[in-house]
Amino acid sequence: MKILITGGAGMVGSHAAEYFAGKGCQVLVYDNLMRSTIFGVDQDSVEFNWNYLKSFKNITLVKADIRDRKALDKAFRKFKPDAVIHTAGQPGVGFSLHDPCEDASINAVGTLNVVEALRQVNPGAVLVYCSTNKVYGDNVNDYPIVEKKTRYAFRSIEGVAESCSIDHCGHTPYGVSKLTGDLYVQDAAQSFGLRTGVFRMSCIYGTRQFGFEDQGWIAWFAIRFVQGQPLTIYGDGKQVRDVLWVGDLVGAFDRFISGALPAGVFNIGGGAANTMSLLELLDILKDITGRSVKVGFDDWRKFDQKVYVSDISKVRRALKWKPTVAPREGVERIVRWIQENKRMFA
Ligand SMILES: NC(=O)c1ccc[n+]([C@@H]2O[C@H](COP(=O)([O-])OP(=O)(O)OC[C@H]3O[C@@H](n4cnc5c(N)ncnc54)[C@H](O)[C@@H]3O)[C@@H](O)[C@H]2O)c1
Repeated sequence: MKILITGGAGMVGSHAAEYFAGKGCQVLVYDNLMRSTIFGVDQDSVEFNWNYLKSFKNITLVKADIRDRKALDKAFRKFKPDAVIHTAGQPGVGFSLHDPCEDASINAVGTLNVVEALRQVNPGAVLVYCSTNKVYGDNVNDYPIVEKKTRYAFRSIEGVAESCSIDHCGHTPYGVSKLTGDLYVQDAAQSFGLRTGVFRMSCIYGTRQFGFEDQGWIAWFAIRFVQGQPLTIYGDGKQVRDVLWVGDLVGAFDRFISGALPAGVFNIGGGAANTMSLLELLDILKDITGRSVKVGFDDWRKFDQKVYVSDISKVRRALKWKPTVAPREGVERIVRWIQENKRMFA
């Protein structure tokens, strides 16, 4: 099987590339390595993953932008994928507020370009899309919450299901651009007959994640602990997310690709059994690294939700899938990886 992975140098993309290459698939990674530029950071990030993937014989690397239709069409025509995992994206809410046009060009138009490129070379192919819980916008804040000692929690639901409304609310430009991509991919099943899996992801974490203050909070906190550098928490730190180890996410992609479902939209994350607040992550990191760092508190960011937990019952049922890595184990793996690659974070 031939699998093309856009954003294949990123955290999710590089794990998908390694996993499918390990299964004997031919993999094409398509990435323009712009993560550091997006976050205004003057040091390498996903370049590390790009170099890591060079050692795999059955992975081909193409450095190009999904907005460059000529380059994209050329790569698709030449490779003729059976499946595409579209992870390329601008993943930061803060960046989208700062430059909504650039955000839309990558997340919305870029996704349409991928649909177009794929349906023209293989109308029977599978397309997996990395969507986000942010498509539900502020509607998520309508579920009543309760405050506990170290976290907030939903009062009467376990998690947010796919039936949550996606409109009549605020979103942030990121939520809008990702929702646009989400709808283009859903529609590609209706209009063009592609098999499409839309995965509305909560917090995904893993090794090879270059967390920055604006995105990738678990990796960002872990990097600061390993470096012994201070951290800022926006809000009171009781905000809570369900967290999913990246390998578990890729396992769900595989089940969709190798299964028979014609199309699906799934909320995916660790679910109610795998949740963590920022304060709880601090405690875990203190315990694992044996050190404390200085933590400052600042005002809430307008767009931060106090609680987001996915209801994963649909994806569990449809793909006979479940998360396997507990949050503490996952955080230990990230810390170990950062310690082994300290020079990347100097
Ligand atoms: N990590 C999460 O918790 C999370 C949660 C919800 C949704 N998502 C979505 O999942 C996807 C992958 O997330 P990630 O954590 O792996 O992010 P990442 O930043 O590690 O990976 C994204 C990759 O896309 C590449 N890219 C960006 N713009 C590109 C362009 N125009 N052309 C080609 N490549 C481009 C980047 O260089 C990077 O390697 C993103 O689309 C993100 O919006 C992530």
